[in-house]
Amino acid sequence: MPRSRKILVTSALPYANGPIHLGHLVEYIQTDIWVRFQRMRNHECYYVCADDAHGTPIMLRAQQEGITPEALIQQFSIEHQADFADFSISFDNYYSTHSPENCALSEAIYLANQAKGHITTRVIKQAYDPIKRIFLPDRFIRGTCPRCAAPDQYGDSCEICGATYSPTDLKEAVSVLSGMPPVERESVHYFFKLSHFESLLRSWTGEDGHLQHEMANKLNEWFETGLQDWDISRDAPYFGFPIPDTTDKYFYVWLDAPIGYLASFKNLCERKGLDFDAFMTPESTAELYHFIGKDILYFHALFWPAMLHSAGFRLPTAIFAHGFLTVNGQKMSKSRGTFIKARTYLDHLNPEYLRYYFATKLSSGIEDLDLNFEDFMARVNADLVGKIVNIASRCAGFINKHFSNQLSNRLINEDLFTEFAIANDRLAQAYENREFGYAMREIMALADKANRYIDNHKPWVVIKNPERGQEVQEICTLGLNLFRQLILYLKPVLPMTAKKTESFLNCKPLTWVDAHVPLLNHAIHHFEPLLVRVEKAKINTMLEDSKEHLKKNENFPQSSTFLAANPIAETIQFEDFAKLDLRVAKILKAEAIEGAEKLLRLELEIGGETRQVFAGIKAAYAPENLVGRLTVMIANLAPRKMRFGVSEGMVLAAGSGGKEIYLLNPDEGAQAGMRVK
Ligand code: MSP
Ligand code: ZN
Repeated sequence: MPRSRKILVTSALPYANGPIHLGHLVEYIQTDIWVRFQRMRNHECYYVCADDAHGTPIMLRAQQEGITPEALIQQFSIEHQADFADFSISFDNYYSTHSPENCALSEAIYLANQAKGHITTRVIKQAYDPIKRIFLPDRFIRGTCPRCAAPDQYGDSCEICGATYSPTDLKEAVSVLSGMPPVERESVHYFFKLSHFESLLRSWTGEDGHLQHEMANKLNEWFETGLQDWDISRDAPYFGFPIPDTTDKYFYVWLDAPIGYLASFKNLCERKGLDFDAFMTPESTAELYHFIGKDILYFHALFWPAMLHSAGFRLPTAIFAHGFLTVNGQKMSKSRGTFIKARTYLDHLNPEYLRYYFATKLSSGIEDLDLNFEDFMARVNADLVGKIVNIASRCAGFINKHFSNQLSNRLINEDLFTEFAIANDRLAQAYENREFGYAMREIMALADKANRYIDNHKPWVVIKNPERGQEVQEICTLGLNLFRQLILYLKPVLPMTAKKTESFLNCKPLTWVDAHVPLLNHAIHHFEPLLVRVEKAKINTMLEDSKEHLKKNENFPQSSTFLAANPIAETIQFEDFAKLDLRVAKILKAEAIEGAEKLLRLELEIGGETRQVFAGIKAAYAPENLVGRLTVMIANLAPRKMRFGVSEGMVLAAGSGGKEIYLLNPDEGAQAGMRVK
């Protein structure tokens, strides 16, 4: 029995401003299978993760929804954790990068790097939104592509021709936030001197085992082009951790994100009384693995080891990158309905199907993997239902019915059992090396053998001969033992099915060594179907549902489409405008009205006066989220008698209606009753 290893495993931290989708799940499922395998081998293995909670997009999304960033990340944290739990992702800790542990560790790591002279400052020019008073990340600038002249492209790259450029090259650039052209502004930024670590990084990435070959090659390209200083600061306003000894400077989200791995583990150690240092000092014999998508290699293979090293921590044992998910051969797409959220999938299909399907497609490489729904259905039905579960359903009935649930006391064919038992090492190797696709094929080949055995020995024929009862019991006992071995080998992939099997077989949780020990002279329970077939109709409704859910934009939509759909109205004179009395209003009360489908009743305070307004915003807002918010109302609109009472004005909102309604809210500092002009 090999000595038990100490292993710490992470998956990349999902951003806290969007839902978990099937692309993400490639990573969490891959990691979880590996972790569950290690635990079945009796190793001391911890799996930690967190929400990546900082950055401009999160801050702006919170603003857009009229809530604090803390409230926003809290909502997403709950949602993410529910999704992960329902896919059986077995984190030991799921934390947030917006945590006291992460703040302390980020400061410590930064200060250690600063003390060693790895941080410098310099003035840079950046796009700035003069209306919103904020520096603009590239994604928040749109304009015409300098190469192909496609309109409405992002500030860093063109979706039409694939060009990459700097936002200053963009033509007719506007800020997505205000619609105004950005101006250039200077400010001091903090930089991490990555080039100081070139020799450390070259030797670390060159040594075997730390990186996959394809990834090591990619790094060589980066070494050739030269390691650039890394901009690690952002100016206020920003949602993140303030940089020590500065005013209005914050750590860039990617500085504290990987440190979030350590913070999550630290938090686990504190709760469970584990020794953090035993895993993280340079002398540690524990192993540390980061599972990531290939898109974020730069951060994990360059900045991260460099920062760790100079702060006195150990380096990762390995970084395991995986490829990207495509659906039906194409990039996931909202309009095709193939941008599928974890929750939409869960509403229609069993999570273990997807775990198995991904397992069949995963290897130690970085190739992209395709989710093809025809193939998905065929694989799950043929393999899991047709091969695996079939073995149990063919044998269990006889044992339940004719032998009062009792397994026989010997194996009728020891060789077959042994053949399944010695596959153990080969499969363990495959799991260890992340060759899950290979493992699944091997397991299915064994399942074919088990089915062939039952086909050849036909218990349903033998049972007709009253003198051969014991033989039936023995055939079925062997069949169920082979089934048990197969489920054991599949347990990292199918934890829920394994659990149901353990209770059906009335046995303790299966661990890896149990493959050698048969279950004999033992009472089992009644057999219930463990997995049912995938139905085409369910896949179709899931895809339809995805289109529906995603109509409401998760990201910032393309601003120019609004103008095209809704041209500017006829010109009016200033006198016309001046007739409107617009006021900042505070929402004191908000409630649904019985019998009204679209309306909420609002009570608005406008400086000593309270107004009742009926607003058609029910589909977009839960009343409890409105109370306490400021918005803008037309205060001198003639009162209007409605079915539910008199409406004394209107609130201002943007959007096309239904769920697409965005109440206006004034900037900080405004007070109820102020005139808006
Ligand atoms: N927040 C950063 C990671 C910080 S780690 C210190 C981030 N978040 S993410 O939400 O965009 O992605 C989380 C993980 O999911 C990444 O490893 C990413 O590669 C992976 N995937 C996101 N979309 C994916 C696919 N379509 N396919 C496979 N993996 C994908 O990056
Ligand atoms: Zn272009």
